Amino acid sequence: MLRSANAQTSSEKAIDKKIDHIVKQLTLKEKIAMLHGNALFSSDGVKRLGIPELTCDDGPLGVREEVGRYSWTPLKLKTDSATYFPNGSAMAATWNPALAYQYGVTMAQEALARHKNILLAPAFNICRTPLCGRTYEYYSEDPFLNAQLAISAVKGIQSQHVAACVKHFAVNNQETMRDSINVVIGERALREIYLPAFKAAIQQGHAYSLMSAYNVVNGAHCSENDFLLNKILKGEWGFKGLVMSDWGGTHSTVNAANNGLDLEMGSKGPYSNWYFADPLYNAVKAGQVSERVIDEKVHRILWVIFHTSMAEHQLPGSINTPGHSKAVYDMAAESIVLLKNQNHTLPLNTANIKSIAVIGDNAIHTFATGGYGAGVKAKYEITALQGIKSRLGKDINIRFAQGYKANYKTNYTAQQKENANNPNPVLISEAVDLAKNSDLAILCIGSNRDYESENSDRKNLNLPFGEQELVNAVTAANPNTIVVIMAGAPYDIADIKNNNNTVLWSWFNGSEAGNALADVLFGKINPSGKLPFTFPAHLDDSPAHALHTFPGENLTADYKEGILVGYRWFDTKNIEPLYCFGYGLSYTSFKYSAFKTNKKRYKTGEHISATLLVNNTGKYAGKETVQLYVGKLNSKTGQPEKQLKAFKKVSMIPEQGVQVVLRFKTTDLAYFSEDLHKWTIEPGEYKISVGSSSRDIRQSTIITVAN
Ligand code: BGC
Repeated sequence: MLRSANAQTSSEKAIDKKIDHIVKQLTLKEKIAMLHGNALFSSDGVKRLGIPELTCDDGPLGVREEVGRYSWTPLKLKTDSATYFPNGSAMAATWNPALAYQYGVTMAQEALARHKNILLAPAFNICRTPLCGRTYEYYSEDPFLNAQLAISAVKGIQSQHVAACVKHFAVNNQETMRDSINVVIGERALREIYLPAFKAAIQQGHAYSLMSAYNVVNGAHCSENDFLLNKILKGEWGFKGLVMSDWGGTHSTVNAANNGLDLEMGSKGPYSNWYFADPLYNAVKAGQVSERVIDEKVHRILWVIFHTSMAEHQLPGSINTPGHSKAVYDMAAESIVLLKNQNHTLPLNTANIKSIAVIGDNAIHTFATGGYGAGVKAKYEITALQGIKSRLGKDINIRFAQGYKANYKTNYTAQQKENANNPNPVLISEAVDLAKNSDLAILCIGSNRDYESENSDRKNLNLPFGEQELVNAVTAANPNTIVVIMAGAPYDIADIKNNNNTVLWSWFNGSEAGNALADVLFGKINPSGKLPFTFPAHLDDSPAHALHTFPGENLTADYKEGILVGYRWFDTKNIEPLYCFGYGLSYTSFKYSAFKTNKKRYKTGEHISATLLVNNTGKYAGKETVQLYVGKLNSKTGQPEKQLKAFKKVSMIPEQGVQVVLRFKTTDLAYFSEDLHKWTIEPGEYKISVGSSSRDIRQSTIITVAN
């Protein structure tokens, strides 16, 4: 799909011509009917001209179960189960765009099988605060990692003639007051941190649709934000597709229509009363919105229809196939992060193990649904206990103790929520007994989809449900305890980091979660996940909290930290995190050597090619994500200490070495100058570093960039 008008292919030109012809035949009433929902997840086509309805569904965890046309009540069909995909931060932890592509292909095949034209995914808002209730749904704190995954996910989805709907545009980083919070943000932070992944998804992924966010940015709601929608998205980036509102996120008729919204979704009340229904018709009649603006919106919607349900080559779609199970297994397997393996307990050598105590509610918990927001009616979901039993149950005595109760609902009162965090002495004592009488304990804790949820932010970083007390008691009873944490966002796990020897981080990891976890524990899979966000040692260390700008006051969140989000803040301010961005161990070890760039001095516009040798120096085959960071030395323009500019995941057997090539451009080093109002390269010396995490830098070199 080519973007610029003069570079259009002939088939694109033919489509545009057909669309123009259709638009000419439509009455104003028919056009208006296409610009707002006609049900919860669809909008009108034009029957008399053979234009079908446009149908959509959530994303991003898989294709949501069917709800009523006009109500959120599930229809309880026998035909709407689907594959449940690992959550967004799990995907980001794989650092593997090929898996993101596969995610897109697979989920889109399921969408097709369920007759959906638009998948409301992927979602990749920047993780600005670890407390954001949707951190689990989003990818990372880094715009470059976000962008690489978003491009691939979009391309994968659209390879099946299903439209991706990238969301939520833009700067939607908290759930507290999400409908009304006004984010006050400078253009530099906007352009350098919050917009790049959207830009990449549009210009490189060629996303067909985009969802505007609930919040307000610099005084205008995102669904009627002229700067974001008209100037940047449709103007600068040349977006040809459609902008839909988030559900209930439209707030006006004339402003929204003139400022870039194309399709109103999820509003309340009779459909004819919606902003983009009769009121829009009347606004056109009154001359407040021109019919040209309406035609352009209809054109965009038809353009999406012509690339999906009316695309020339139609694909059949498929759902819940063995291939789909493999796709989610592969993602889950590469997402698991090994945080600590002090005594090389992992991978487990089961030869001397006769009994294992599997402890913790998360060992039997499923995560496909829960809380507020989209879930999936999973065809199946393998829990940790099931995965462990299926791998070892024949030879080893595997027993379970719940250890704690995850008794928490989003609609609980503050008191009930607090009570849910009390340890349960009876369950703890059962767990301790079992741990004492087993060779080994695998403790599955963390949170769940009720605790991390859309529409609310967490209050703090504490582990919920009295889990720390359980960990302490079980570890004291049996030091041979492996802690597995399943959650989608950072938590305060300092005590576990200090007191436990073996710690794994898993996620809300999809239909195959338990199998992938078991295969990591027992060594079939060598973990290769790397954290996609910083775990702060204290909440107040993290920028939005250090500057007291979360959740904001008087409906305003002033993003005072500017571009210093995530590790950019921690590194620049020299604050030691609990776990840094990009962190993750392996069962094997990797040696980095011979790092160099193709030149030492570059002119603006030139490409930089960095090479190094990575050797697997341990006993196991494994995968390593080589991360390349760039930092301007003696920056006069407030650049962060370092920024991720390239990465590559490579696979090696023991003793094997691979040459890794990482390419980027000098223009990738530009910052956005608010004075000059353009991307600008600060001339001078840059430190280029490669490492296994943002703080495990193995080799560096200095280059000079002239302008
Ligand atoms: C969410 C969107 C979702 C929509 C439809 C909204 O509440 O913010 O991400 O796509 O609901 O379910």
